[in-house]
Amino acid sequence: MVDSKKWVLMATAQTPTNIAVIKYWGKRDETLILPVNDSISVTLDPSHLCTTTTVAVSPGFEQDRMWLNGKEISLSGGRFQSCLREIRSRACDVEDKEKGIKIEEKDWEKLHVHIASYNNFPTAAGLASSAAGFACLGNVQVYLFFSLSFIIFVFWGCYAYILKVHWWKIDDDFFSLAKLMNLKENPSQLSAIARQGSGSACRSLFGGFVKWIMGKDENGSDSLAVQLVEEEHWNELVIIIAVVSARQKETSSTSGMRESVETSLLLQHRAKEIVPKRIVKMEEAIKNRDFSSFAQLTCADSNQFHAVCLDTSPPIFYMNDTSHRIISYVEKWNCSEGSPQVAYTFDAGPNAVLIARDRQVAAQLLRRLLFFFPPNSDTDLNSYVLGDKSILHDAG
Ligand code: ADP
Ligand code: DP6
Ligand code: CO
Repeated sequence: MVDSKKWVLMATAQTPTNIAVIKYWGKRDETLILPVNDSISVTLDPSHLCTTTTVAVSPGFEQDRMWLNGKEISLSGGRFQSCLREIRSRACDVEDKEKGIKIEEKDWEKLHVHIASYNNFPTAAGLASSAAGFACLGNVQVYLFFSLSFIIFVFWGCYAYILKVHWWKIDDDFFSLAKLMNLKENPSQLSAIARQGSGSACRSLFGGFVKWIMGKDENGSDSLAVQLVEEEHWNELVIIIAVVSARQKETSSTSGMRESVETSLLLQHRAKEIVPKRIVKMEEAIKNRDFSSFAQLTCADSNQFHAVCLDTSPPIFYMNDTSHRIISYVEKWNCSEGSPQVAYTFDAGPNAVLIARDRQVAAQLLRRLLFFFPPNSDTDLNSYVLGDKSILHDAG
């Protein structure tokens, strides 16, 4: 390693969030973050709903430090330490001939990192910021993502992210700590590292539909994420996220699920009897692009997860009245059509993730949301349209 303290090496990564359609809720090992059941999620558009993390390393840094959304946070927690330790232990030689810098494997133990991370969506509000955050710290190589257009609008104190689903491939490398330290691991192996930061993070290492296999090994080596279907598999789907509240939730996912494991009998039943069967059916539905089964399973699983929260002592309320109104509304619509048009799912927060079967349904959904949750009179709707405006046009 060159001994000058003047150099700084930096790497930046951008990682999307993911939303579970079969939820992870409960750990069998708190330290290694091993879940009580498998889960399946969909990875969202990385260009709009994502975490951007820059990691810098320099012999001039005296300690590891991190800033989240511009505010310094402590890195003393076990999760950050686990991720840093796991990545450092796998770090390889890095050489920048132009600048005359060579870092050898053994040097990484002595070098400190500075990490700056920014979420472009609400943090700790049930939109899986911990998933995007820790996956980003971990790393991403090549993604296959849902994406295309992106719209935010404000309605009745809510705003919505509208993601037209479209598969696309990012060919560039996206790098952060693992890239900076030149790790050779594949995405599934990296997912096992991201898992130790936040369980849901392991699923953000892939695009599209992703399964987190709970694994059997008590050291966690087989608890990792795999991509379920190939790119372009189900690109008719459109995801709309209605942000009911961007406020930080009162009970973090980590402590909420800990309390559920300790007190909810329904959680035990769900993990052992319900989820294993649901996972099989959900994989089938995704493989066959069977929207009716997909929607039925997604909604049922979201409702059961929130039932577990209610079955927890003391009960945890993540949804609010607006969330409930959205559920009733979608249920009525699906019932009147005779088959599901829209699936809903709510993570540990009040915000709705709505999955429409195609673009026409999404436009209709948007129109109806605007009707039931009218825009504030002083809101200029179009000024919030950031992406492909045509879907808003379709909505009338
Ligand atoms: P969410 O529903 O947003 O995932 P959680 O309660 O699961 O909420 O996690 C929120 C916590 O995740 C934050 O308090 C913070 O500790 C961590 N987190 C969020 N964003 C990041 C990030 N970009 N990098 C690292 N950690 C993050
Ligand atoms: C409701 O992954 O945030 O979003 O592992 O303790 O960090 P920790 O929890 P986290 O929990 C996510 C819970 C969920 C469901 C899911 O994403 O599967
Ligand atoms: Co989380």
